Amino acid sequence: KRVLRLGIAGLGTVGVGVVQQLHENRDAIYARAGCAIEVAAVSARDPGRNRGVDLSGIRWFADARSLATASGIDIVVELIGGAEGVARELVEAALSHGRDVITANKALLATHGARLARCAHDNGAALLFEASVAGGIPAIKFVREGLAADRLLRVGGILNGTCNYILTTMRDTGRDFADVLAEAQALGYAEADPTTDVDGWDAAHKLAILAALAFGRPVAFDEMHVEGIRGVQACDQHFAREMGYRIKLLGMARQLEDGRIEAFMRPCLIAQQTALAHVEGVFNAVVTEGTFSGPMMIEGRGAGAGPTASAVIADVIDLARGKALPVWGVSPQSPATCAPRALLSG
Ligand code: HSE
Repeated sequence: KRVLRLGIAGLGTVGVGVVQQLHENRDAIYARAGCAIEVAAVSARDPGRNRGVDLSGIRWFADARSLATASGIDIVVELIGGAEGVARELVEAALSHGRDVITANKALLATHGARLARCAHDNGAALLFEASVAGGIPAIKFVREGLAADRLLRVGGILNGTCNYILTTMRDTGRDFADVLAEAQALGYAEADPTTDVDGWDAAHKLAILAALAFGRPVAFDEMHVEGIRGVQACDQHFAREMGYRIKLLGMARQLEDGRIEAFMRPCLIAQQTALAHVEGVFNAVVTEGTFSGPMMIEGRGAGAGPTASAVIADVIDLARGKALPVWGVSPQSPATCAPRALLSG
């Protein structure tokens, strides 16, 4: 029986969700992957902590970077987070050794995606990141594969579940910002440092990944207008409603005639009769406008253990079935022909 062995770095909300889903949905995953998927090793702080999942028989590494080269691991699953430090070193080391990597780390990809894509390509490794954008929504597949033949004019959406949850709940209940943020944290939606969510950076990272896929070039953060939701008050919501609008943290990117990408992430008034205005609570939406496909939108749960873990496992299944596409559109046979869909520039 073929077995695919995972080395998981980081056992927070998503990591525990992956272990749990692999266990609870074992038969269906086996049928879809065509092989057994096993958690062979983990690395996380505090091995003694009760995480509510059975980790017996799984090797424990104190230093996550060891997963890059340790024997008995086929795929490294990086769920530590952060653009620098251990997460970046682990992903770089694993790819350099030709080991496939699955990551949910949007900050890492938004900052170093082009370089990591090149590293994966040069070493014959796969780098998959469906869980990095919009939780359970297949946002990466949607933009990269679903719209493969199209030329995209715009890409964006509502890309942070915590902010959308806070804005929706504040509007519906009149509760204050701090109170609802604490609830979003307890529900496992928010990042370890929730300022990343409420100041717009988490959503900006996701927008940068989508834009890079859509337009084939990286987005410079210093050229992106990024504004979070701290300044939105209950009375703003009230007046927006009176005028027929809802307030959402919205991001949009488009390519200018000179090739540069213009992108923003900020609270916006959205007309109540539009589909986007009805994306509520922890839901995210990814919107595109293609030359041929016209406007499109997909929506679903954008945060939380279940949706995000299912996106991680979808990548594992793709690797098991040999379905992993060349990273960022790079063809292994012809690396020089990566434009226009590849992010590669670094
Ligand atoms: N903190 C993120 C959110 C989690 O609220 O959308 C998913 O990236």
